[in-house]
Amino acid sequence: AASRRAGTTPRQPGVDRVGIIGAGAMGAGIGAAFALAGIGVQLIDTDATQAQRGRERIQQTLDKAVARGRLSVEAAVGVSARLGASTDSADLGDADLVIEAVVEDPDVKVSVLRAAAVAAPDAVLATNTSYLSVSRLAESLEDPSRLVGMHFFNPADVMKLVELVPGSTASPRTLGVALQASKQLRKVAVLAGDAEGFIGNRIYSVYRRHAEYLLEDGALPEDVDAAMEGFGFGMGPFAVADLSGLQIARSLRDRWRSTGRLPARYVDIPDLLCDRGWWGRRSGRGYYRYEEGRRIPDP
Ligand code: NAI
Repeated sequence: AASRRAGTTPRQPGVDRVGIIGAGAMGAGIGAAFALAGIGVQLIDTDATQAQRGRERIQQTLDKAVARGRLSVEAAVGVSARLGASTDSADLGDADLVIEAVVEDPDVKVSVLRAAAVAAPDAVLATNTSYLSVSRLAESLEDPSRLVGMHFFNPADVMKLVELVPGSTASPRTLGVALQASKQLRKVAVLAGDAEGFIGNRIYSVYRRHAEYLLEDGALPEDVDAAMEGFGFGMGPFAVADLSGLQIARSLRDRWRSTGRLPARYVDIPDLLCDRGWWGRRSGRGYYRYEEGRRIPDP
């Protein structure tokens, strides 16, 4: 009422509880970002261990923030009491916003979004897809206006940028809730068109492609990365690929292959790594070797 008297617009009610489907690297990171902002988080994963692991990762982030004096003990205790992890999408019931961060497979994404639309009938739905068309995913829902792309970057509780992708179907309310949530997270939100890779990954893919050409031409990943880091990049393209996990770019290449869109010069080195199960940091090996998540030198 006071704000109305002063002639300003009343504050839009904020997001109070978020549901996150897929408690992997991104789901847990996004959950940590919301928890740090004091927002309740319900994690859902088909794999119960993964859901619990995601919850632990969020709790550790809260504990670290308290230890560093960035969060009060009361705030941390309050939000950890509102931290849930389960395998049942019915637990999404009271979420204002549900974000899916499951594997980069359109069929899996559509099925979890459909289930979320029913479980949380009033929630805005968001997808954290890296490369899929948000409008296409939305068209598979009963109400396409409820879906928006919210593309976070890894690690999601650290990286400031979030790309918001309304596609051709999101309603103004849907986009408004995504914007409001980004504000609560204190992220830098940019609006992106529904193009493959949106903004960040689309531009980055050009660097990555040329980095792969260099491998084929005889360069080593560590030299390419060192050069790019010396050039001012926070991380070189192969270190980034290992951190993100090679499976995301693999599913993009598989889609190109099945729709006849493979580029004229196609480098198959990343496919060879994937075929060996070298998916990056999480599997202990990608372009580099890792032990307990830390890079170790090649023997
Ligand atoms: P991840 O493999 O670490 O996690 C995926 C999780 O989804 C797993 O825990 C899995 O058990 C779960 N899951 C699979 N099917 C499910 C289902 N039907 N219902 C509930 N949970 C299910 O994958 P990551 O890396 O977290 O990626 C997730 C999404 O985020 C992908 O769409 C990816 O493209 C996108 N993304 C990834 C980034 C990265 O750097 N890794 C950055 C930005 C977006």
